[in-house]
Amino acid sequence: MPSPDADQVVPCFHHTSVLLEGAVDTLIHDLDGVYLDGTFGRGGHSRVILSRLSPEGRLLAMDRDPQAIAAAEDVDDPRFHITQREFSQLAEYAQEQGVHGKLSGILLDVGVSSPQLDDPERGFSFMRNGPLDMRMDPTQGESAAAFLARASEADIAYVFKTYGEERYAKRLARAVVTRRAEAPFTHTVDLAEVLKLAHPAWEKGRHPATKAFQGLRIYLNGELDQLDAALDAALEALAPGGHLVIISFHSLEDRRVKRFIRRHVRGDTDLPRGVPIRDDQLNRRLEALGKGMRPSEEEVDANPRARSAVMRAARKRV
Ligand SMILES: C[S@@+](CC[C@H](N)C(=O)[O-])C[C@H]1O[C@@H](n2cnc3c(N)ncnc32)[C@H](O)[C@@H]1O
Repeated sequence: MPSPDADQVVPCFHHTSVLLEGAVDTLIHDLDGVYLDGTFGRGGHSRVILSRLSPEGRLLAMDRDPQAIAAAEDVDDPRFHITQREFSQLAEYAQEQGVHGKLSGILLDVGVSSPQLDDPERGFSFMRNGPLDMRMDPTQGESAAAFLARASEADIAYVFKTYGEERYAKRLARAVVTRRAEAPFTHTVDLAEVLKLAHPAWEKGRHPATKAFQGLRIYLNGELDQLDAALDAALEALAPGGHLVIISFHSLEDRRVKRFIRRHVRGDTDLPRGVPIRDDQLNRRLEALGKGMRPSEEEVDANPRARSAVMRAARKRV
């Protein structure tokens, strides 16, 4: 494979994959199968999947971040194909590849990668100064700077509260709107400083802007809607018996994953009471594969970013 073009040079920021072996062990049940990794990142999971599959196996991968796609250039394997797309589009991708309804497994390791967080140029970091962007695909949608320049105080507070679970959302939104009347926000550390000064309850070991930044990132990237759409699409794209494995990093995501699996494990529960129904009429589409799995203490010690991770998995019923 050729090396990335000059305009696609991937800055050298490392991503340590979370729950790597556990996720791949749970995902792969047929070495000849076709699998989909919806969140390639830097390919940690993808590379282990490829190392396990037989020569007949295939791996399709997706990521919305152009830098992740550029990083995939060094995967030189005819069994591998990647597309730059949102994972909510996974059904369309599977259709194009002729494997819709035939996938042996789908992996989603949701959220942001370490290179996205650590590269100041991506605008996610409140510690290292960079342009206030926060888009996983910087060619799509609205940057954090553009949103903070045009949104109402109430909308900013809503984003901090709903997606950041920030208790002092209103107070922080007020500080943002007051400050932007003097000068627009263009850089991450500037915003972080304003949020820090406005925050009345600093917690030890956590920057006071953490939750507000999380809220902005989740909102700007439509992360929860993406997850909901991907879960629905995955259910259709899997083959009967196919495995769905999702790793999430905060309770807003994990709650959705848990509810989705529970709903499809139970099937249609709103049928009238007392009406005799056969099990196959309940439309149960999933079986849970174990309970939520969390990283070991050793993994968290080695990679503190793994600490909030939860992996949930299910099998599509035959
Ligand atoms: C936690 S990282 C994945 C890391 C990867 N499993 C590895 O081991 O290198 C999450 C990745 O998912 C991508 N991503 C997040 N939301 C996405 C979406 N809706 N569609 C496509 N990619 C998405 C991000 O750009 C990021 O590269």
